[in-house]
Amino acid sequence: MSNAYETSRLVAEYLFFHYAEGVQVADGHRVPTEALDFPVRVVTELRDPSRPVASALDVGCAVGRSSFELARFAASVIGVDFSSAFIQAAGVLQRDGHLTCPVVIEGERTVPFTARVPAGVDVTRVRFERGDATALRPDIGSFDLVLAVNLLCRLPQPRKFLQRLPGLVAPGGQLLLTTPFSWLPEYTERDQWIGGTEAFGPSWEALCELLEPDFELCLTKDMPFLIREHGRKFQYGIPLGSRWIRKA
Ligand SMILES: C[S@@+](CC[C@H](N)C(=O)[O-])C[C@H]1O[C@@H](n2cnc3c(N)ncnc32)[C@H](O)[C@@H]1O
Repeated sequence: MSNAYETSRLVAEYLFFHYAEGVQVADGHRVPTEALDFPVRVVTELRDPSRPVASALDVGCAVGRSSFELARFAASVIGVDFSSAFIQAAGVLQRDGHLTCPVVIEGERTVPFTARVPAGVDVTRVRFERGDATALRPDIGSFDLVLAVNLLCRLPQPRKFLQRLPGLVAPGGQLLLTTPFSWLPEYTERDQWIGGTEAFGPSWEALCELLEPDFELCLTKDMPFLIREHGRKFQYGIPLGSRWIRKA
């Protein structure tokens, strides 16, 4: 199966999703403003700011905006993604501070968009690397904060990723998840879904069952997002966000 996340169209879509300011996203049309700035809000709205965070891991980081946001308070951030095109784009942003790409207006008509690393971020704190969430390098370490945004239902073996989490999050550290529980056979064979069928039951309950032995649930929150596909077409999602604390 070809990987959609390697295409230049998806790179541009995600650069726009991560770095466009609200007014640009709207193309002059009215859009649900509560869904803007998603890659920033997953960090600011799900994190417990009372817990110290020196190190953070962003799994499925795409083109890197949340990783840069984590670097506002964490001295060391690793952003990992399976897509080499996404990791390459994140690396250019880190090196140059900006990256221009064509975003679609309609059909084949495009307009240049320049993504920029936001002010106040020390990019030297971030390291981007290509990797598989279900086969992360053994020496990657453990972190005060692990972020995995809309990743679970893109994985062929989501349980394998969940099983690695107790080793990735340091005791007392926080795990921030969002997932829309889309469960699509083109990404995850049906027998690997976590809930999501009449027989398996509700996904959230199945996910809690898997995490509860090692993590304590502290927060749940709807986290709306808006991805602009072209000037008059948007993808609106309401993944469920959650914060979990690693038990000692
Ligand atoms: C729905 S996107 C979410 C991206 C980003 N977290 C965001 O919210 O914008 C899913 C991401 O997971 C990445 N991905 C898919 N399979 C992966 C895997 N096995 N390991 C790491 N990343 C993966 C994709 O390349 C893509 O960047």
